[in-house]
Amino acid sequence: MATIIDGKKISAEIKEELKEKVEQLKEAGAEGTLAVIQVGDDPASGVYVRNKKKACAYIGLHSQSFELPEETTQKELLDLIERLNRDDAVNGILVQLPVPAHIDEKTVINAISPDKDVDGFHPQSVGSLTIGQPGFVSCTPAGIIELLKRSGVEMDGKHCVIVGRSNIVGKPMALLMLRENATVTVAHSHTRQLQELCRTADILIVAVGRKEFITGDYVRPGAVVIDVGIHRDEDNHLFGDVKYDEAFEKASMITPVPGGVGPMTIAMLMHNCVEAMTR
Ligand code: GUN
Repeated sequence: MATIIDGKKISAEIKEELKEKVEQLKEAGAEGTLAVIQVGDDPASGVYVRNKKKACAYIGLHSQSFELPEETTQKELLDLIERLNRDDAVNGILVQLPVPAHIDEKTVINAISPDKDVDGFHPQSVGSLTIGQPGFVSCTPAGIIELLKRSGVEMDGKHCVIVGRSNIVGKPMALLMLRENATVTVAHSHTRQLQELCRTADILIVAVGRKEFITGDYVRPGAVVIDVGIHRDEDNHLFGDVKYDEAFEKASMITPVPGGVGPMTIAMLMHNCVEAMTR
């Protein structure tokens, strides 16, 4: 039976700490503003964007919201980003992904000034993370490191298996785990004998984007299991990439869905916004 890692509680703690820090920065005359851009009206993106703006208000940052229609051209979006890059009142810029198919995501990410790249998606941010230089770190993997640290999970010398190699989670997660002196294996759809490999993990981080893909058979007894997935069924019930009940029986610690990794992403976005404010 596992101890549940409470992401809701830990993210609330982080937001309290940030709120205090923002108060101090404001007393010293600083102001923080996050510009949030959404193109189109994808309902899931709408929820994320609202939660991000709410978190800004909670910790004492301003947010500027740009809700652009689906038919916005790439040039119009790039012009807006360029204007926000030059606006000294804006410290952080975030373009909610995915963008509509006629807009090239990479071009958009590259257009955001690395100094304002609070999502940590710009190639310069990723490059800095790779060679251990200061820069913004992608929020979900940064949040997972905070969850583990604040839950007392030792990473040094441990074998961490990451299932999934996305630019947003899997790859930066591997780099952050290396920074914590873990031994890291990144598994993906071409990995052979995945189940056996996962069973060698002290820390198993799953970001495959497939509902309940990782069953109890993938979990070594006593492992720490981190579930990044989020899926909804017809009845609006939420599920992760991990079959929770089975993994719960085997793991020493586990993140639930919802209430595990999810809330940490916004907490770390706020962390990055406060960082941007101090730059
Ligand atoms: N879409 C899904 N996750 C994210 C995220 O962390 N940042 C942005 N900008 N878009 C997303």
